[in-house]
Amino acid sequence: MKIIVFSAHNFEKEYLLHYANEHIITFISGPLNSDTVTLAKGHDVVSVFTNDKVNKDVIDQLSDFGIKLIALRCAGFNNVDLSHAKSKGIPVTRVPEYSPQAIAEHTMAMILTLNRKTHKAYNRVRENNFNLDGLVGFDLYQKTIGVIGTGKIGKAFSKIALGFGCKVLAFDLSKDSELEELGVRYVEFDELLASSKIISLHIPLNNNTYHLINDSSISKMQNGVVFINTSRGGLVDTKALIKALKEKKVLAAGLDVYEEEENLFFDDHSMDVLQDDDLARLMTFPNTLITSHQAFLTHEALTNIAQTTFESINSIESQNFEYSI
Ligand code: NAI
Repeated sequence: MKIIVFSAHNFEKEYLLHYANEHIITFISGPLNSDTVTLAKGHDVVSVFTNDKVNKDVIDQLSDFGIKLIALRCAGFNNVDLSHAKSKGIPVTRVPEYSPQAIAEHTMAMILTLNRKTHKAYNRVRENNFNLDGLVGFDLYQKTIGVIGTGKIGKAFSKIALGFGCKVLAFDLSKDSELEELGVRYVEFDELLASSKIISLHIPLNNNTYHLINDSSISKMQNGVVFINTSRGGLVDTKALIKALKEKKVLAAGLDVYEEEENLFFDDHSMDVLQDDDLARLMTFPNTLITSHQAFLTHEALTNIAQTTFESINSIESQNFEYSI
């Protein structure tokens, strides 16, 4: 089959080619959207990533081109109009579980960096500044971590936090009995906000969760809370977070995702003038760590993404198609 891979990154190409076998792949570095969709003409399958815009218009055109499958190379699918794809008879697949550990471990890496200020220490020591002032952190041991969403990633992260000797509070629509047996306590959203020294988001972005973290929810958090978002940028009202950082309500923020990341993250903009004032402001804070949606970026995750994507593609070809979102 002829497969067009949008938002193709150098870091994933070797993994995709490894599983492609007889399929013919066209890599497009740019995203799929209304302007680029015509590139899909003549292909059988379209593969997209987190920031491609698979809206009604795009789906209508993909349907006209006879596209047989939209294969997401990611877990989140908030960027795809699923019901419209269904109405057009185009199945949509994703990679529901490529490595929850990868994201969970990156979450803990962000907490450790922000708390022990290793991002500051790295630069200081390289400039022969061996002074320790301003680098004081706190023990994670016995601190309370609030985990919002205890699906695959939140569960993996909860176990890591338990391993550090933290108390874990959780909020989710459904409780995980294994976590409860391990000592995780499910509480109401407001109680989690009020009782947690560290809060980490692991829920999907949808109409119910958009801007879940806003002025009102932040006001219910402890003064000096550490806030981590490795889930989706739209879960957080960025202006509210900036305000909370300025007021020192939030002691530190780790963000692997950003509301307006779409035209920035994954690409080199080092020679451009940054037009996003909120991101620019966030980057001025010494206690904010921003990574470019890299929480998933491990060898294991890229292997699983490539493997699962081609399993979906092969099942279409063999008419043995079993799963879609
Ligand atoms: P999952 O589907 O296994 O778990 C999500 C959990 O959130 C479920 O337990 C669900 O019950 C809960 N939930 C959904 N809506 C809720 C609500 N309104 N209130 C409370 N709980 C709610 O998903 P998984 O695999 O753990 O991924 C979580 C999110 O992580 C994804 O949706 C995606 O946005 C993000 N992600 C980020 C990556 C990165 O590289 N930064 C990579 C992969 C995923």
